Amino acid sequence: MDLQDRRIGIEALAVHLPRNYLDLGVLARANGTDPEKYYFGLGCRRMAIPSADEDSVVLAARAAGTLLAGYGIEASSIGMVLVGTESGVDAAKPIATYVHRMAGLPSDCRAFDVQHACYGGMAALRTAANWVQSGLGRGRKALVIATDVARYDVGSPGEPTQGAAAVAMLVGDEPRVLELLPYPEAVHTAEVMDFWRPTYRSTALADGHYSMQCYLDALESCWHRFASATDLGLEAFDFLLYHSPFPKMAFKAHRRLCELAPGGTARGGADLDWERRVLPTLWANIEVGNAYSASLFVSLAGLLEHAEVDAAGARLGLFSYGSGSCAEFVAARVGPDAAAWRDRTGLRAALERRRELTHEAYLRSRRAYEERARDGSFRAALGGDGPAFCGTWNHQRVYRDSAWRAATGPSRSLDRPPRSAGPVAAPLPHRAQAAD
Ligand code: CAA
Repeated sequence: MDLQDRRIGIEALAVHLPRNYLDLGVLARANGTDPEKYYFGLGCRRMAIPSADEDSVVLAARAAGTLLAGYGIEASSIGMVLVGTESGVDAAKPIATYVHRMAGLPSDCRAFDVQHACYGGMAALRTAANWVQSGLGRGRKALVIATDVARYDVGSPGEPTQGAAAVAMLVGDEPRVLELLPYPEAVHTAEVMDFWRPTYRSTALADGHYSMQCYLDALESCWHRFASATDLGLEAFDFLLYHSPFPKMAFKAHRRLCELAPGGTARGGADLDWERRVLPTLWANIEVGNAYSASLFVSLAGLLEHAEVDAAGARLGLFSYGSGSCAEFVAARVGPDAAAWRDRTGLRAALERRRELTHEAYLRSRRAYEERARDGSFRAALGGDGPAFCGTWNHQRVYRDSAWRAATGPSRSLDRPPRSAGPVAAPLPHRAQAAD
C-alpha cells in the first residue's frame, strides 16, 4: 500500500479535568452582573477551576496516564510526544519532557511542545499525523496532548470564559476514534493582536470584541479555501465542531458559515441546523469553560460521550482558531464503533466527580495558584492538595511520579464492545439563540 493511502488519525483518546468548578451564576452575582449574561449571553454554565497543584503539566500527565495505562498501550510503541499548549510553565523546557519521563517513553522518542494559542492542539495533531503518514516513525505511534489552563484577571470581561482541561490522543494508522480525511489543507494565518499573554504575566489579555471578529474572519477564509479546494458544501458534514472559547462563539461561527453556504443548512434555517449539528458537540464545553488548545478536543470527546447521539461514521468539520493568529478547517470521520467510547473518554466521569467551589474558595484557589506560579518561591514539596502535586526547588519544577501513577487504573481493551446508552446529556443553552 502506498504511504499516502494509509488512513491516519486518532486511535484512542482520554480527557482529564480539574477537580473543582465554579458556577457562572455564582460568579455573576459576585461581580454584580446579571447571571443571564453568562448563562445565555455567553452560553456558559460552569468553568473548571484548577487547584494550585493542577497546572498544565499535571493535567497533561494525568490525561496521558489515563490513555496509556488505561488502554494498556506499550510505551515502546510511541515514537513522538507532542504537547499543544499556551499555558506552559517554562519558557524553555517543554511539558513533553515531563510527560516523556513519567510515561517511561523510550529515549528515541522525539518530544516537544507546540505553541500557537488555541491552535496548538490542532497543530500538534496535524504534525503527528503527517509524521505517521510519512513512515519515518517506522510504524510507531504519536502521543499528542492538548493541555491548557485559561486564566484572565479577576473582574475582567474574560473572567467568565476561563476553564481548564487536557485531552491525550494516540495518533496512528488505526483511527478507531477519528480519521483525518486527506483533503487539501485549509489554513489561514494573519498577524493580529487579539489575545496574548506576555511571559511576565500568568493571565491572558484580550481585545475581546476584536478577537471575535478575527475568529470569524479566519473561519471565513478557511471555509473559502476548503470549499474551493474540495467542491464540498456544508451539507457534507453531520456535525460541525468549532473552537469554543465560550459556546456563543460557536453559535456565531455556525451562523457565519450558514450565511456563506446557505444551501447547506437543514430545513428550518441556521437555528435548527445549530441545534442539530453543533449543540450535541458543546454540552461538555458548557461545563468546562475555555480550555484553549484542548477545547476543540473536549467537543470531540463530548460528541463521543453524548448519551443520545451515535456518532459512528459521522463526517465532522472541525474548526480550530488560535489567536495571533492561525486557523484551520479540517474534515474527519468518526470510527465505526463510536458508541464504544460513550463512557470511555473519561470526560463524563470527570464531570460527575467534580466539586463546586464557593466564590471565596475560587478567589483563594486563584491566589494560591498565582503565588506558586509567580517566581518559584514555593520551595517545599506540597502535600495535602491531592495526589498529583508539584513543588519547586532551586527554580526547578518538580513533579512526582505520583502525578502519573494516580492516573492509572485497571487496563481496558480498545476492542471492548459498546455498552448501552448512559444518562441523558446535560441541558444545553438553547436560549443562546434567543439572546442573539
Ligand atoms: N442577558 C442575556 N444576554 C446578555 C445580557 C443579559 N443580561 N447582557 C449581555 N448579554 C449578551 C450580549 O448581548 C452579548 O451577546 P451577543 O454577542 O450575541 O450580542 C453577550 O451577552 C456578551 O455580552 P458583551 O459582549 O457585552 O460581553 P463582554 O464585552 O463583557 O465580554 C467577551 C465578552 C469580549 C467575549 C469577553 O468574555 C472576552 O474578552 N473573552 C476573552 C476573549 C475571547 O474569548 N475571545 C473569543 C475569540 S478569540 C478565541 O476564540 C481564542 C480564545 O480561546 C481566547
